[in-house]
Amino acid sequence: MKRLAVIGDPVGHSLSPLIHMTWIDALGLDASYESIRVPAGETAAALDDFEHQEFLGLNVTLPHKQAVLPKASEKSAAVDAIGAANTLSRLPSGGWRADNTDAPGLIAALGRLGLSEFTGKTVLMLGAGGAARAGLFALDRAGADIILLNRTVEKAEQILAECCSRPHLSGPLDALSDHAGRANLVINTTSAGHGGAHIPLPAGEGRLFYDMSYGAPAEAQLAHANAQGWKTEDGLGMLVCQAAESFSIWFDGVRPDIEVALTACRTSL
Ligand code: ATR
Repeated sequence: MKRLAVIGDPVGHSLSPLIHMTWIDALGLDASYESIRVPAGETAAALDDFEHQEFLGLNVTLPHKQAVLPKASEKSAAVDAIGAANTLSRLPSGGWRADNTDAPGLIAALGRLGLSEFTGKTVLMLGAGGAARAGLFALDRAGADIILLNRTVEKAEQILAECCSRPHLSGPLDALSDHAGRANLVINTTSAGHGGAHIPLPAGEGRLFYDMSYGAPAEAQLAHANAQGWKTEDGLGMLVCQAAESFSIWFDGVRPDIEVALTACRTSL
């Protein structure tokens, strides 16, 4: 039996067990996927424990996405640039390999919405916290021109320098209306919705507003974006697509069915 888990704190709300068990069951694999609460500060000890228990792999969520890195004996280039991992695979030689599947997960989710060519496109990204980093890396490498707006401008400048290979623009969030006209796509990575707030948007004229949040925290923002004429999408597609990338790493390139997992998630929310 191949053992898999998501570790985090809190982790009870995670949809990852539902997504991965949907695929494990559909493909008839001899594997299990559980959620395990690991408090902050216990990352290294927990990873040693999971290694002894011969876990095949782990998904990593808050607050461990950076804390796992010192325990990784192999890291993808994306992990180095983003500075965070969401997927660990136990190495045959011992220790862990760290990957970040949020980056390809975002590109795959946008691809499902018909956006697959980013060269010459301008993407307006809102927010410069942890969730923004993988998105910046992915869109920068995909050839997009990025405008990164954040309440705290210095944070935007800093993560652009850390995660991107080319120069991009940054600015304050309240300059959104000045930049929105140039954007082919807006991606919201802020946690404003978790506090019930939403970021005011100018008219969308049918363009896509992609929110990395899903469920209740995304509701007010997406309702506002809709009312302003944006085509809207929540972050469940990215969640399932990043899970599919992790699944493919663990199960030798198997590509699981995105749609079946998305349906399971939407039903459970
Ligand atoms: P995450 O890991 O989910 O990205 P985070 O690292 O705490 O969370 O980052 C939260 C992001 O949402 C930040 O960009 C934050 O802006 P600041 O850097 O200025 O703090 C942004 N954010 C949170 N609440 C917000 C609000 N009410 N309005 C605008 N931006 C907000």
